[in-house]
Order: sequence, then C-alpha cells, then structure tokens
Amino acid sequence: MLIKIPRGWELPESAATPHSVFLNRRALIKGLAAGPFVAAASGALPFAGALAADPPDPSAKFYPAKRNDAYKVDRDITSEVSASSWNNFYEYLPAAGNITSQAQQLKVRPWEVKITGMVEKPFTLGFDDLLTKVQLEERVYRHRCVETWSMIVPWTGFPLKQLVDLAKPLGSAKYLKMVTFNDKDMAPVQRQFWWPWPYTEGLTMAEATHDLAFIATGIYGQPMPKQHGAPLRLAVPWKYGFKAVKSIVEFNFTDQRPVTFWETTGPREYGFWANVNPAVRHPRWSQEDERPLGSNKRVPTLLYNGYAEQVASLYAGMPASEKLFM
Ligand code: MTE
Repeated sequence: MLIKIPRGWELPESAATPHSVFLNRRALIKGLAAGPFVAAASGALPFAGALAADPPDPSAKFYPAKRNDAYKVDRDITSEVSASSWNNFYEYLPAAGNITSQAQQLKVRPWEVKITGMVEKPFTLGFDDLLTKVQLEERVYRHRCVETWSMIVPWTGFPLKQLVDLAKPLGSAKYLKMVTFNDKDMAPVQRQFWWPWPYTEGLTMAEATHDLAFIATGIYGQPMPKQHGAPLRLAVPWKYGFKAVKSIVEFNFTDQRPVTFWETTGPREYGFWANVNPAVRHPRWSQEDERPLGSNKRVPTLLYNGYAEQVASLYAGMPASEKLFM
C-alpha cells in the first residue's frame, strides 16, 4: 500500500502547526536546556484581572486625520472587529489570537521615546510631545503576516522619515534599531525567560527613510488600541508583519546590523530583511497565498506585498548571500 505523507505546505492552514506554537515550543525547549524550568508559563494564559480605567487620551483630538489618497489598496478594508481581535503581540500571548483583554495591562501614559546612538545629540521625548512635532495622516496599507493571514487597514501616523529628521543621525549611521518596552509587570509573558526580550527590529537607513515606512499611532480613525501596539508602532507594508515592531520605546541609530527578536529565536526561519515574496517558501509552509482576516478565502500573495514598484530598487545589486525574502 502506498501511503502519501503530506508535506507541511500541503496541509490546510488549520492542520499545520502555526509558527507561533512551533516557535513557542522551540523557544521553551531552548529555555529548558539553558536552566531549570520555572513555572512562568502562566503569563501566557488569558488575562482576567481587573484594571483601573485609563485616563482620557490626550491625543484623541488628532483623530481622525486626513486620509492621504496616494496610499490606497485595490482590496476592501478589513473590518475593524476582524483586525482588532486577531493580533500578534507575544508580550501578551505567544501565539496569534484575540489578546484584547490581556493587552489592557499595557500602560501607555506616560510614554517616553528615547533617541539614541549615532545622532548629533541623544534625547528623550514624551509621546504626546512627539505628536506635536510631526504631521499625522491616514494611509491604507496592506499587512501580510508571515503566518499567511493578511489585512488591509487604515493606519494613522507619520512617515518614519519625519522622526529620523528630528533625530539628526550622523552620516555614519547605517541602521535604525527599534525596541519595544521590557516590563514584566506590564507584560507578564516577559517573565518567560526563554524569549529574547525586548522585541527588537531594524531597518537600513534607506528603508527607514523610504516613503512607505510609517510610524502608526492610530488605526480606523482612532488612537492605537493596545492590542495593535499602542502608542506607536512601525508599519512597513512590503515586509512580513513581524518587522512591524509594536509599542516602541527606543530608536537607536547604529552602524551594526541589529540582530532581531525573531532572528535570535529562529535563525533558520526568520531573517533581517523579511521582504514578502510568494515564490520563496517559509521552510515549513508556502507563501503563495494568504487569508484576509474576516474571510475563509485565500488570495494570491504579491511580490513585496504589492509594493514592488516602490521598493524593489532598494535591493538592486545586493549580493546573493543576502536572504532578502526570509
Ligand atoms: N511587536 C511586538 N513588540 N511583539 C510582537 O509579538 N508581533 C509582530 C508585529 N509586531 C509583534 C510585534 C507580528 S508577527 C505581526 S504579524 C504584527 O505585529 C501584528 O500586528 P497586529 O497585531 O496589529 O495585526
């Protein structure tokens, strides 16, 4: 009898081990090998605690911002309820899912942003202060998670280049590293020592100053909900969603390529560039198509997630050794 064993990418999405579950397992094994197991996994359980209500949001007056029609997508916008109830925010749940309740532990005021490294003069500024120094606008962007779900959302925010200009980087800076908060009280999952907290991401300076690189401070015409990475997160729509670091506390200009959270966790599966390419498989599944949130249909994934015309030139002439699509 011939038994056909399906390969990973032939499994339906529901039957394949999600990358989050797989990595959580791998990271746990790594952690166990590194030392005695402490029962810290409870941080991954749904949060059911009572929290004091947040004071009124002083930034609410900036929303909704005017939509910039230069950035639109020829697909329907994902419903707000679908986008805000399926999130990836490992600090609150090391798997994609509905984390609205757990994420309420995130305290977004006061919130300070540090500008460090190779800049004329390092400085720290409050998030609300930052909002007075930039020009907010709304842009409709695609978002494609490496796990193959996707969404089309109206982010509110400002081009990352505006922040780079405020920071005044030195000519020697080659990369911008962005770092999420690290606070075990605010995000109990950060007690899970086997993850390389804090969540860190990076871009080259050419990517960071590209027109499409955006710091999102809101979505659907409102300040950013906590599960989406309040108060400020990155949106780089031509890259897999894991590049879109949430709840940023530091922008560090450096001449060293940052080694990111996912590169540290799964170096054979996740790299620095992470540009979307349907022709390049993830080692365990196909990237050919995607499931828009709120639907059961799959649609083809596009090269650079549909932004090839705008971004392909950033990568022209790069050596073949650079794994641009993982
Ligand atoms: N940022 C932090 N700090 N922690 C995370 O776990 N997950 C990333 C990215 N940014 C993540 C993060 C991944 S894998 C994706 S797909 C997007 O956030 C999801 O963004 P969303 O939840 O707003 O849709």
